Amino acid sequence: MTEKKLKELLESMTLEEKVGQLVQCNAGQFIENTLDITGPEGEALPAEDLCRVMGSVLTFEDAAQARALQDMHLAADPKKIPLLLMLDVIHGLRTTYPIPLAMGGSFDDDLMTECADMARKESAACGVHVTFNPMVDTARDGRWGRILETCSEEPLINSRMGAALVKATQGEDLSRPENVACCVKHYAAYGAPEAGRDYNTVEMSERQLRETYLPAYKACLDAGARLIMPAFNSLNGIPCVANRWLMRKVLREEWGFRGVVISDYNAVGELVTHGVAENPKEAVRLAMEAGCDIDMVRNAYYQYLPALVREGTIPEKDLDEAVMRVLELKNELGLFENPYHGADEALEKELYLCPAHRDIARRAAEETAVLLKNEGILPFPKTVRRIALIGPFAEEKHLDGFWSRPGAWKDTVTLPEGLRALLPEAELMIERGCGAEIGAVDESGIERAAAAAAGADAVILTLGEEEGDSGEGRSRAEVTLSRPQLALARRVLAANPNTAVVLFNGRPLVLTELEEMAPAILEMWYPGTEAGNAVARLLFGEANPCGKLSVGLPRRTGQYPMPYNRVNTGRPKPQPDSRAFPFTSCYLDTPNLPLYSFGYGLSYTSFRYEDLTLDRETIGREDALQATVTLTNTGKRAGKEAVQLYLRDPVASVVRPVQQLIDYRKVALAPGETAKVCFTVTEKQLRFYDFDCREVSEPGRFELSVGWADHLMLTRRFELKKD
Ligand code: GLC
Repeated sequence: MTEKKLKELLESMTLEEKVGQLVQCNAGQFIENTLDITGPEGEALPAEDLCRVMGSVLTFEDAAQARALQDMHLAADPKKIPLLLMLDVIHGLRTTYPIPLAMGGSFDDDLMTECADMARKESAACGVHVTFNPMVDTARDGRWGRILETCSEEPLINSRMGAALVKATQGEDLSRPENVACCVKHYAAYGAPEAGRDYNTVEMSERQLRETYLPAYKACLDAGARLIMPAFNSLNGIPCVANRWLMRKVLREEWGFRGVVISDYNAVGELVTHGVAENPKEAVRLAMEAGCDIDMVRNAYYQYLPALVREGTIPEKDLDEAVMRVLELKNELGLFENPYHGADEALEKELYLCPAHRDIARRAAEETAVLLKNEGILPFPKTVRRIALIGPFAEEKHLDGFWSRPGAWKDTVTLPEGLRALLPEAELMIERGCGAEIGAVDESGIERAAAAAAGADAVILTLGEEEGDSGEGRSRAEVTLSRPQLALARRVLAANPNTAVVLFNGRPLVLTELEEMAPAILEMWYPGTEAGNAVARLLFGEANPCGKLSVGLPRRTGQYPMPYNRVNTGRPKPQPDSRAFPFTSCYLDTPNLPLYSFGYGLSYTSFRYEDLTLDRETIGREDALQATVTLTNTGKRAGKEAVQLYLRDPVASVVRPVQQLIDYRKVALAPGETAKVCFTVTEKQLRFYDFDCREVSEPGRFELSVGWADHLMLTRRFELKKD
């Protein structure tokens, strides 16, 4: 439809029809026609009226339902304005790939592109127009249950992988039925709630906000994301959805965003609960004045916005601008010409869980696994005949994370299925041993498990946290393994030291006790549909682990928040980190450093870093410096290494981190192969926010290193010249 036709359509719409475009309901309510609500004067607002004018729905099932929803609506709407169909497709629709926190650990943007492209195809066939993805809330606190949804504690990874996902999902032309629009979320700093408790308040300096929390949202908008979702939390005293500094000054004026802003689930109504609005009508005014276009569910806009416009509190011009943004998005998706977009039942059947998608999901599960420890145990030889598979996840199918689609877990390849596929001759002895639920005390199965371990050639011990214990509203005050799981580990390892621990969890866990007793630990996070095949191939050497930690693992929960890119302080704790040094920035009861640091991960082969060279010792603002490191695979098998480049700015007008990741690259090497890995460094990567919140770089000396956090090596110095 042309811009002119869109304007004519807008002019032809009644006030109620305009408001309807800003209303989103659950698909289920729409189908069951349970949208009866009361108006501000207590009058009935019957469901069929809302169904007629409503602009979008969320959370529907499949292509058939997508078409039915569209048909129902268009039959009722005299203006024939198609619905927007939106869905949370966070890491796969039917073929589930690993959770984002695992994907970040691949340090491989191309892998994210491949997975997002797969998810796009399945989503489009399902009839999705908009996915509420990527979630790029930088998080440094494992107590927060939604840390599983973000790629990393490092905003650079969230920025690059979020942008890769947006590009792979939206393609070049949203009107093409195979492409899906992205809604980046949750704007802003939802990942930094006080005490790590979901939905809790966020208080931080503008400088910290701009330096650490805003960049990833902007990177996704710069990549073309068409929608953004303000977060539930208040930010420096004002809930995001009503925060005009965030939504007007930064988003619209500074960043020039012209797309659609959609609230989170009833976040508009919750302004009353936050205590910044006297009543829902006041909440609607605040949200509209801040520039929130669509009210997700609970329909406060539908109830109160017409009155606010009629009485002149909200200028109709503002309403028209919001409605036009929604109409423009529908038009860009080509919905006026093809309201079904990509919904295609035959294509669903062809794509869902197809071999090519399973292959992508399996490779992603293999390449995001992090080998934390391996004292000569792994890989197990494939000649092993008697395998004890033990622990709460031994036969678990719920290995695909909080935001996998309902029912997707039924497709998960379990560990026994993966092991039997790889080693059909091997005998599997399976013992659960104990549960993984928080607070569990039952240890009655441990002896049976220990007996099974004693009789085995090799033992796979599965530990972690239940899938429902991370995700939205799932924060924890302690992020340790449950007592029965540690008791199980102690007994099984005593019964058979040839034991590898495999972890399934959605957040960083405290592994301090486990690490002391287990000779091998493989972190799988929630690996998705192909879990069993990936684990089997990794444990028996068909695949070589190459994931790194996207977030550091603490020794104690009390270390949180524990950003890897910490500042030095005036009294840094000297080495060794193993004991307290009074009157320094340390704990009396635990070391400062994580148990395992950001960027750490082992392989079945080994790599040597040498000869980091810079092609110049000084750069100006227009120059680019080439940093080259020689990497050699010194082992006997092929492997991939995430080469990480860290910067330090030892003296600046504000304190700067002792280590900051500024680039990364995944490199594959055959045994004995050597490669020169080259990074380009420009003045842009030296920038930070100064005390006055200006983005600056300051002349002076800088250091570049390779390695991983807390384990930097081959440090070289260069200088940024004065202008
Ligand atoms: C949820 C989440 C948000 C999601 C939305 C729709 O409460 O906060 O991430 O996209 O509702 O399901």
